[in-house]
Amino acid sequence: MTTDTLTEKRTYAPSAETVSHAHVDAAKYDQMYAASVADPDGFWGEHGKRIDWIKPYTQVKDVCYDFGNVNINWYADGTLNVSANCIDRHLATRGDQTAIIWEPDDPNEPALHITYKQLHSSVCKMANVLSSLGVRKGDRVVIYMPMIPEAAYAMLACARIGAIHSIVFAGFSPDALSARINGSDAKVLITADEAPRGGRKTALKSNADAALLHCKDTVKCLVVKRTGGQTTWVDGRDFDYNEMALEASDTCAPAEMSAEDPLFILYTSGSTGQPKGVVHTTGGYLVYAAMTHEITFDYHDGDVYWCTADVGWVTGHSYIVYGPLANGATTLMFEGVPTWPDASRFWQVCEKHKVNQFYTAPTAIRALMGQGPEFVEKCDLSDLKVLGTVGEPINPEAWTWYNDVVGKGNCPIVDTWWQTETGGHLMTPLPGAHAMKPGAAMKPFFGIEPVVLDPQSGVEITGNGVEGVLCIKDSWPGQMRTVWGDHERFEKTYFSDYKGYYFTGDGCRRDADGDYWITGRVDDVINVSGHRMGTAEVESALVAHAAVAEAAVVGYPHDIKGQGIYCYVTLMNDREPSDDLLKELRTWVRTEIGPIASPDVIQWAPGLPKTRSGKIMRRILRKIAENDFGALGDTSTLADPSVVEDLIENRAVK
Ligand code: WT7
Repeated sequence: MTTDTLTEKRTYAPSAETVSHAHVDAAKYDQMYAASVADPDGFWGEHGKRIDWIKPYTQVKDVCYDFGNVNINWYADGTLNVSANCIDRHLATRGDQTAIIWEPDDPNEPALHITYKQLHSSVCKMANVLSSLGVRKGDRVVIYMPMIPEAAYAMLACARIGAIHSIVFAGFSPDALSARINGSDAKVLITADEAPRGGRKTALKSNADAALLHCKDTVKCLVVKRTGGQTTWVDGRDFDYNEMALEASDTCAPAEMSAEDPLFILYTSGSTGQPKGVVHTTGGYLVYAAMTHEITFDYHDGDVYWCTADVGWVTGHSYIVYGPLANGATTLMFEGVPTWPDASRFWQVCEKHKVNQFYTAPTAIRALMGQGPEFVEKCDLSDLKVLGTVGEPINPEAWTWYNDVVGKGNCPIVDTWWQTETGGHLMTPLPGAHAMKPGAAMKPFFGIEPVVLDPQSGVEITGNGVEGVLCIKDSWPGQMRTVWGDHERFEKTYFSDYKGYYFTGDGCRRDADGDYWITGRVDDVINVSGHRMGTAEVESALVAHAAVAEAAVVGYPHDIKGQGIYCYVTLMNDREPSDDLLKELRTWVRTEIGPIASPDVIQWAPGLPKTRSGKIMRRILRKIAENDFGALGDTSTLADPSVVEDLIENRAVK
């Protein structure tokens, strides 16, 4: 991937047309931003009213960032229901408007247009089914589903009865699934028979069966029919959703929830250990998701909005389901992949449903760019108004292609920087308010105060034309509140390295104009096709194999994926490297974590570079993987320098 963002000098001002319909123009942004940081209570007190409260809040922000005592509350004494906000409150005004357009994997299968009224009845049915399985307020429900409307129903049904959902991306393995079911002590797992994607099918129910072997036998499994493919059935444990829904009532009173009651848990990878359960709560999260959705994408009533993410990631939570539906939007859910049946699928879907805002990931843009412009050009994309990108830094080449070929130079690109932890966008240019620079996240959203710190001293670097680690000075309503079951880990991960700030894990540059560029992770987290992964997780999967003595995993630049997974593996004394073993290890990691963690490169390493105290020098391994041998840096602290020579000499061919 070419990351020539340092030499990137182009600036694209918003067009007069974009400015004319934008919710927020430059002057309004400046005024609102100033107000938001000068008086967070006043600002968020006002904007909290964009959603409906059962009992209005009298308090707004109540936050402590002191290490050892971190405590984040927004709107704490207010009560509300997220599902009522996303559905019921729209019924009077837009009951017959489409809430969800569902586009199936197979373009020959009909799309669905689900109105707000229909959404209400389906969500109530699902809520009643969950209640009948014994799910109560505060209980956890794991969702392991294809991208079908029932996935959204399941989320909203949990929200309706006050259950906490935890979605596990359907690309994760049974092992990863069972770890998450057990990690949150879930009562029910909702899955489907099979997940069609790109013309192939993943056997979700049989993965669920395998996972449940490692869970308490009280966990119930609710199975939605998608393909009708055959599944094995455990009586008393498995429940047929479609049958139960026929009997279930289509009304269900929404539960009154406190603003700080958890809405969902979502596991994400960190630099150490196993993934942690990020906890988002009810009130602040919804306010933030809804407001960013409307303003970042300049969403207007009647627009058709499409985010291509999966609901298994936070992007799907905030920007397919909660943000858009809270705004009464029409949101498109797509079951398929960008390249099947061919590389024009995205653009065909845009044309078919007259999409106005389109939000995707740089990895998809790069993959499609490689197929040539014909696939885009044969489709009518004249309804597009705003394009968005998320998940990883976008290289200027891909940005330019997105802008020129997809947007025809008429659509502002919002390069939204945020994280699972942040609940919604923290930095992005706003259409109609800001100029764009290819590859830059540009400006903070309202209430967000980014600071650039010196990585060693932790001292804030002021002024422009500076680079360092990115922290956020104060809280915002969409911020995560804790790590599920481990508040200490929450504090340690985000509030201990740089006291008094939220540490993002990203590096960042503030250019001469004061605009922000994300330079990538500064920790051992890698970003593979926009999927976040801890190198430690892949290492622990590798060493769990009987042939492996030791493993070190780093990211390396990959043309399409952004980063690929490069593994250095030291075998047990009695094992010899072979192509068969290499294949076996690859399959092993896929089984342990899931296909998204499949190693791109495995290099046999007779030894790993270590300091005299035994610490693996990952900096060196990163450089070797990057093919950058000139810059190995200080190797004088190595216990055995010959290890490095061997690794360079036998570098695995990519
Ligand atoms: C990490 C968070 C946010 C939803 C999807 C990913 C990287 C995300 C951008 C962007 C540069 C980005 C960061 C961040 N990232 N968006 N626009 N430009 N980098 O969420 O899995 O929690 O990953 O993704 O490194 O820390 P996530």
